[in-house]
Amino acid sequence: MNRPIVFALPGSEALLQALCTALDAEPGALEHRQFPDGETYLRIESDVADRHVVLLSSLDRPDGKLLPLLFAADTLRELGALKLGLVAPYLAYMRQDVRFHPGEAVTSRTFAALLSRHLDWMVTVDPHLHRYHALAEIYRIPTQVVHAAPLLAAWIKRNVARPLIIGPDMESEQWVAQVAADADAPFLVCEKVRSGDREVTISIPNASAFLDRQAVLVDDITSSGRTLAVAARQLASMGFAPPDCVVVHPLFAGDAAQVLGGYVGRIVSTNTIVHTSNDIDMMPVIAEAVRNAP
Ligand code: R5P
Repeated sequence: MNRPIVFALPGSEALLQALCTALDAEPGALEHRQFPDGETYLRIESDVADRHVVLLSSLDRPDGKLLPLLFAADTLRELGALKLGLVAPYLAYMRQDVRFHPGEAVTSRTFAALLSRHLDWMVTVDPHLHRYHALAEIYRIPTQVVHAAPLLAAWIKRNVARPLIIGPDMESEQWVAQVAADADAPFLVCEKVRSGDREVTISIPNASAFLDRQAVLVDDITSSGRTLAVAARQLASMGFAPPDCVVVHPLFAGDAAQVLGGYVGRIVSTNTIVHTSNDIDMMPVIAEAVRNAP
């Protein structure tokens, strides 16, 4: 691969320098603005002919980001980019992986088909794989998944004495087990039942043997914050101190921060989505994956 050039799409500008440094890449210049009627103006200002081009776009709040991304991708190709890859530290629409009710859109498939048509490869961090087992089930381009678990474990080892790792639902067992092993800590996995976007109930297994430990809730995504808040309230009722929360993708939608306030200790996250809780840098491992891109 010749020295890549990286363009940050709107919302991911704060990650550009870190990725360029980790990748030894050139930051590309791109102008983006809205016309008065809300349509997008986009201009590529750097020379990309025969270059390996990386688009950096974390796809939280994806609907407003998708069109600029597709406009940029097509323009870069027209301007002669040799290869065009996407680094999407957070990949959206992975949770709508089945038609739960008749007539619902399985948006993960449409989203994947769209991205696959415009790009040559993609790198992402821990996509929410639940009913899909691999991105290849819906993406038609080569994809690489970077895992945050080793870095979450390293943060916990450095910052928490005698941790007890807790996964809030069965899906979390895959990464919670690895985080716990890497952090030399015991772990528990709870059972969660979701009855609405903001309604969950959580049952925590008997944890009385661990009351002298610091509970650390580990989850891939915090969206409404209800999963962590409900788990934290349960832990308090069992006699635990407020749990620390370590999250891969800090979506923190709506009133999530307020909902969590008072129930939890520290909240830390990776920088797959720019947020005040970011304390774990994923860019070096993302850069490693980009170096292996086809
Ligand atoms: C869901 O299965 C995920 O692993 C997270 O637990 C979930 O997305 C968190 O959502 P919220 O913060 O809205 O409870």
